[in-house]
Amino acid sequence: MCGIVGYIGAKNTIPILLEGLQRLEYRGYDSSGIAVVNHGELSIRKTPGRIQNLRDLIIKEPLEAHLGISHTRWATHGEVTYQNAHPHLDASGRLALVHNGVIENYAKLRAQLQEEGHRFQSQTDTEVLAHLIGRAFDLLSEKTEKALIAAVREALRRVDGTYGIALIHADVPELVIGARRGSPLVLGIGVGEHFLASDVSAIVMHTRDVVYLNDYEIVSLRRDAFTISNLQGNGTHYNVTTVDELAHDMDKGIYPHYMIKEIFEQAHTVHEAMRGRLSLEEATAKLGGLEMSNAELRSVERVVLSGCGTAMHAAMVGEYLIESLAQVPTECEFASEFRYRNLPMTKDTLVFVLSQSGETADTLAALRESQRKGHRTLGICNNVASTIARESNGGVYMHAGPEIGVAATKSFTSQVTILTLIALLLGRMRHLSSSEGTKIIAELEALPEKIKKTLELQDQIAAIARSYATSKVMLFMGRQFNYPVALEGALKLKEVSYIAASGYPSAELKHGVIALVNEETPSLVIAPHDAVFSKNLSSIQEVKARKGPVIAIGTQGHSSELESMCDHLILIPQAPDYLTPILAAIPLQLFAYHTAVALGCDVDKPRNLAKSVTVE
Ligand code: AGP
Repeated sequence: MCGIVGYIGAKNTIPILLEGLQRLEYRGYDSSGIAVVNHGELSIRKTPGRIQNLRDLIIKEPLEAHLGISHTRWATHGEVTYQNAHPHLDASGRLALVHNGVIENYAKLRAQLQEEGHRFQSQTDTEVLAHLIGRAFDLLSEKTEKALIAAVREALRRVDGTYGIALIHADVPELVIGARRGSPLVLGIGVGEHFLASDVSAIVMHTRDVVYLNDYEIVSLRRDAFTISNLQGNGTHYNVTTVDELAHDMDKGIYPHYMIKEIFEQAHTVHEAMRGRLSLEEATAKLGGLEMSNAELRSVERVVLSGCGTAMHAAMVGEYLIESLAQVPTECEFASEFRYRNLPMTKDTLVFVLSQSGETADTLAALRESQRKGHRTLGICNNVASTIARESNGGVYMHAGPEIGVAATKSFTSQVTILTLIALLLGRMRHLSSSEGTKIIAELEALPEKIKKTLELQDQIAAIARSYATSKVMLFMGRQFNYPVALEGALKLKEVSYIAASGYPSAELKHGVIALVNEETPSLVIAPHDAVFSKNLSSIQEVKARKGPVIAIGTQGHSSELESMCDHLILIPQAPDYLTPILAAIPLQLFAYHTAVALGCDVDKPRNLAKSVTVE
């Protein structure tokens, strides 16, 4: 996904746009650019690479204006080059546009425009859209705000796919236009100034009054007024929301990277995921956001959990949680698969989609597919204003605060915590006794302290990470509740260190995976003192028999067998089987982080990645 910021007002727009882009850089960081209109002239500055490159360019070639648009890119169409960086111009060179999304019919539109003589500088779908709007505007006799808005409307009607756009035109020098379909866009309302952004974090330092645009809406911004209309030209109702400034705390504080800051926030964020949601009196969880009565919850006969990446791994833990604590048949499906499968579901199937950003295109599509078939579809999201949060039929907010590091960390443990609450709630409506519920609540309430204890292992884990940082391949293994944690640990390491890490159910080792084991290939085995501890010991012995190094995650107080077998042993606090995923995930996060640091990788902005994938 990409990041967009726009401004119109009395201030110099350049620092506002650059600061906004900096806050959105986690959304994509292949290239960036700015376009401004000043005294009827359009000026562009754009460059490949990080936003600092754009800052340096503007120092060399200064700009000053009171309105402008800007963009930080995560490439979908076209390589990372100057030509493909946004903003893009129309044929006249007087319209500039920035875009987040994918224009699916861009090739056909491009060919049609080329037949009319249009020439393109880039490989992007965005440039086609700029030409389409410019062409519609140039065909109109009057060159007014109304005409430009009409041209935008006309062009967008011809477009298939997703967009969040901002555009300006030198012939209409006091206007910024935005529009969205499938990619987020928020309007910031100031005094004598207005803002556009892909995410409120880019503008919250200027205003806390915002309007989250809906699909098919077009917004036109002047200094002291704005209008919101739909593609038919009709005005639309909107709500002004006052955002919580702290919820967008983007400061790293004492930490060198967002990822390590967010890892160390987990004692707090797991507590936040539970706060106000545990009823000691009723020995159950209280999740009003599900917007379901007890009777409706009791009638649930099957649960489907869907998400992407880390969210899918949390969902996979959720499958074990709900089936073991509530004995409700549960299955997980990658959102990208769910949306195309014709999963047999009945009216008593309850679907949850999990998404930290709430903007992941595949997960949003899965939500819409589920709802299209009439199923109640709930969201487990962190971003309360996100498209998924707004379109789901209720759900549970994570309250984890912004997660800026591209590698998800606190969002995983928050999602697993919430899934535990859901399992408790469903279980207590079925076979779980009050005393069992009370015990589960006590164990949940003890978690934040156990997370703090686990975080104290950082130095040991960092030393182990450094000693294996040059590995080319690494295997992660776990069983039952911790099989998905093995997948998550492998994903973390892949993402931030680029080591070829893969995760498996431990028992799969002997079904082919063991061919990879040798002295150069470390295995990280999650082996807490749980129901399958002895089976994990067998897997470790199989690795050791082939001289493979083993790093084990065991349970404090139950280390003797592991100590005799493993090359390194990380001991986490004792916890019930169903809560070990939250604790075991933390050493894996720290391991990945310190490996990446040892390798000098860009921890918060790994190559080729973006924080939320809002394109398919
Ligand atoms: C996880 O570290 C990755 N950044 C990625 O797999 C992520 O979990 C996935 O894209 C889903 O994102 P979401 O939770 O915002 O939907």
